[in-house]
Amino acid sequence: GYLIAIIVCIFALVSAYKLSSVCIQKGYGVSVIAATILLNAIYEIYVFARLVLVLAPRKIINSIKLFTFGSKCNNNSQRFIYAACIIVLILALIMWVGSFAKKEEYKNIGVKAIKEGKTAALLLAGGMGTRLGSDDPKGMYNIGETKDVFIFQRIVENLLDVVRETDTWIRLFVMTSEKNHEATVRFFEEKNYFGYKKERVLFFKQSMAPACDREGKVYLEAKNRISTSPNGNAGWYSSMIRAGYDRVLRDEGIEWINVFAVDNVLQRICDSCFIGATIDAGVAVGAKVVKKAAPDEKVGVICLEDNRPSIVEYYEVSKEMMEEKDDNGDPAYYFGVILNYLFRVRDLDLVTDDKMPLHIVEKKIPYIDEDGNPVKPEAENGYKFEQLVLDMIHELSTCLPYEVEREKEFAPIKNRTGIDSVESARALLHKN
Ligand code: UTP
Repeated sequence: GYLIAIIVCIFALVSAYKLSSVCIQKGYGVSVIAATILLNAIYEIYVFARLVLVLAPRKIINSIKLFTFGSKCNNNSQRFIYAACIIVLILALIMWVGSFAKKEEYKNIGVKAIKEGKTAALLLAGGMGTRLGSDDPKGMYNIGETKDVFIFQRIVENLLDVVRETDTWIRLFVMTSEKNHEATVRFFEEKNYFGYKKERVLFFKQSMAPACDREGKVYLEAKNRISTSPNGNAGWYSSMIRAGYDRVLRDEGIEWINVFAVDNVLQRICDSCFIGATIDAGVAVGAKVVKKAAPDEKVGVICLEDNRPSIVEYYEVSKEMMEEKDDNGDPAYYFGVILNYLFRVRDLDLVTDDKMPLHIVEKKIPYIDEDGNPVKPEAENGYKFEQLVLDMIHELSTCLPYEVEREKEFAPIKNRTGIDSVESARALLHKN
């Protein structure tokens, strides 16, 4: 009897521990405690009812004590089971409290790194924003309803929250391209850097690559110039070095760079908890992820490829991958990246441009026709060649996927209307 009770208890404890850790990981800490209390109570009621029905009044008194303190279990197996229930409850409580403590610990690590100037932010603003269809840089787009609110302004305001929290002016790099550099810098100047400290902002241009039509012939954008477009957002590190800013990294002792897209107006930038968790994990890169809203949502999915972290861009996710399920019945490729990464600077030299694949992307490419007239196509008319920041993850052997609540951190603006649009981002901004 003793032996069986001990084995049952150990088994119960181990499975309860496993269950609680899964639940805590998924953020169900409170439910675990509630469920344990409930199970415990059901068990007590069962014992109590059995005693009421079968035994004499004296036993009922004992069972009431049992219900209250568990001190009067009438045999050893009951005592063991009772003890197991209590231990599980305590374990769940400790883990629940621990999950908050862990969050605080990460935040402290992150705040310390920011205060010591070890963290910089890098805004990827070199894209053409063809889907949005504005001639200006995407960040200049006004998403306000009753007053002006520019995308760049939202981004800077989000970063200013951290400046206030840490009392530190974080170094901000802004990557532009030949096509939008002047307009971007002028806009920041005109708007007085949206309240950011001008001396803490550095701009640099990314490289360009030729664009071609569907037959592979290059387009001309002027009589003496072939049509080019920015070479993708992976070029940020080499372009930064070309601009001479590796010296800034060294001089200022920057060890981490939070690289993020211009078009997600809700994202937290240089978020101390994310920074702390990534540093604590000892990995080369942290990637913010969200659960995908639909199997065909247009976000890159994070996964393992040959045992290395990897991200598959949305237009390269096959139908089979979209439908595949894991052992729990959840989608196998469940987590999408939101283009917000924290890179450890010392690992970046491993990621040279020649190692990165070239993606062929169908886009609308403006050109001049045979008579020299400029044409702005309404639909995709050719290909651009891009290297993507998500491929950098595969070159770095360790990555921490860091899940954030999509309603609170993911409001991308790719289109004017519909999915991932100005409209959907406004709705999410209202909610927050
Ligand atoms: P997107 O993939 O949305 O591309 O960029 P895009 O060019 O801005 O927009 P579309 O596809 O033409 O409509 C995601 C992020 O990467 C940056 C963008 O500015 C945005 O922040 N990006 C993209 C660059 O900085 N350089 C590039 O060459 C491409």
